[in-house]
Amino acid sequence: MTPVPIRITLLLVFCSGLCSAIQWLGLTINGSSVAWNESEHCRLLERLVPDQIQLCKRNLELMHSVVNAAKQTKMICQLTFSDMRWNCSSIESAPHFTPDLSKGTRESAFVYALASAALSHSIARACAAGDIPTCSCGATPAEVSGPSFRWGGCGDNLRYGLQMGSAFVDAPIKSSRSGTQATKFMNLHNNGVGRQILIDSLETKCKCHGVSGSCSVKTCWRGLQDLSSVANELKSKYLAATKVINRQMGTRKQLVPKELDIRPVRDSELVYVNSSPDYCTSNPKLGSYGTQDRLCNKTSLGSDSCNLMCCGRGYNAYTETIVERCQCKYYWCCYVTCKKCERIVERYVCK
Ligand SMILES: *[C@@H]1O[C@H](CO)[C@@H](O)[C@H](O)[C@H]1NC(C)=O
Ligand SMILES: *[C@@H]1O[C@H](CO)[C@@H](O)[C@H](O)[C@H]1NC(C)=O
Ligand SMILES: *[C@@H]1O[C@H](CO)[C@@H](O)[C@H](O)[C@H]1NC(C)=O
Ligand SMILES: *[C@@H]1O[C@H](CO)[C@@H](O)[C@H](O)[C@H]1NC(C)=O
Repeated sequence: MTPVPIRITLLLVFCSGLCSAIQWLGLTINGSSVAWNESEHCRLLERLVPDQIQLCKRNLELMHSVVNAAKQTKMICQLTFSDMRWNCSSIESAPHFTPDLSKGTRESAFVYALASAALSHSIARACAAGDIPTCSCGATPAEVSGPSFRWGGCGDNLRYGLQMGSAFVDAPIKSSRSGTQATKFMNLHNNGVGRQILIDSLETKCKCHGVSGSCSVKTCWRGLQDLSSVANELKSKYLAATKVINRQMGTRKQLVPKELDIRPVRDSELVYVNSSPDYCTSNPKLGSYGTQDRLCNKTSLGSDSCNLMCCGRGYNAYTETIVERCQCKYYWCCYVTCKKCERIVERYVCK
């Protein structure tokens, strides 16, 4: 038996509705080879829902930022979760998703928030870099500049990034007729959390001028932190995420925490509607790959420790020989020579 029929069944069962809201992450596959200068390109890749196709046609110049955001989301999600049992590897199968990312889980909360932040980040930066004809540098802050610094340079255009980014990432959720209302509310909320963390990451960056680095005069602008910092912040939110239910509050339904406290959901917390498995053992129905053969760290006390990563099953040790450059010498002027050294390291993988 081949695994193909199973795959198709999963898609029909789980991908008929809401998972399409981050289907655009699949643009990494062919998106870079498209010039995005003709409106037919918007239809070409079958990664966009109708409302996104409209946005694409009217804003072709944004599409390179969309493809870039999809790439960044995939890469940074896996980097951020490399020390966890769920390590975001399933994001590679976009535009098709396994249950860990299609069923309203904590993990999907993180990915939606990250993808939403990534797109606004990508557009804001592209504006400042002059890559998008319809926008330019961010507005100069209202605060007056002091005697030792003045506003200058070119800030990231977060305003434009948020405006266009939210239109694009929220469109599939707003227009979707399938999926439960709770999951829709959840996805929209988490998209917003991603953007809020991005807004909070805005900081003042400066460049020094003046006599030989005296920094007597500074030029400053408002710039976003790197997406990996935003992702780390979102990872803390992921660890503290709140399980919610959709409850009637007065005349309309609203997401509220499932346990204990009767309070509205906060703008800064990630929320989910379905609990995740522990990701210890393989279970395709739940979107769990299990941690067998995963690398673990014998001395760590964190989530990558052999105890936690291997779920108490124990681990196997093996040795690996690493060849690296060493005893490097600098010769004036201008080259470096190195020797090759071998180093033996012990590695541990989960049973
Ligand atoms: C990517 O593009 C190639 C060539 O245009 C095409 O054959 C292939 O089906 C595309 N793949 C996807 C996943 O869209
Ligand atoms: C789009 O870009 C491609 C490659 O740069 C070029 O060959 C094509 O003529 C362009 N199309 C239009 C409508 O400008
Ligand atoms: C992530 O987990 C999968 C499934 O256990 C594994 O195949 C893959 O090698 C892991 N990736 C990394 C970078 O550890
Ligand atoms: C293992 O964890 C320790 C403690 O956190 C850390 O110092 C070390 O660099 C880690 N080793 C590897 C191979 O990641």
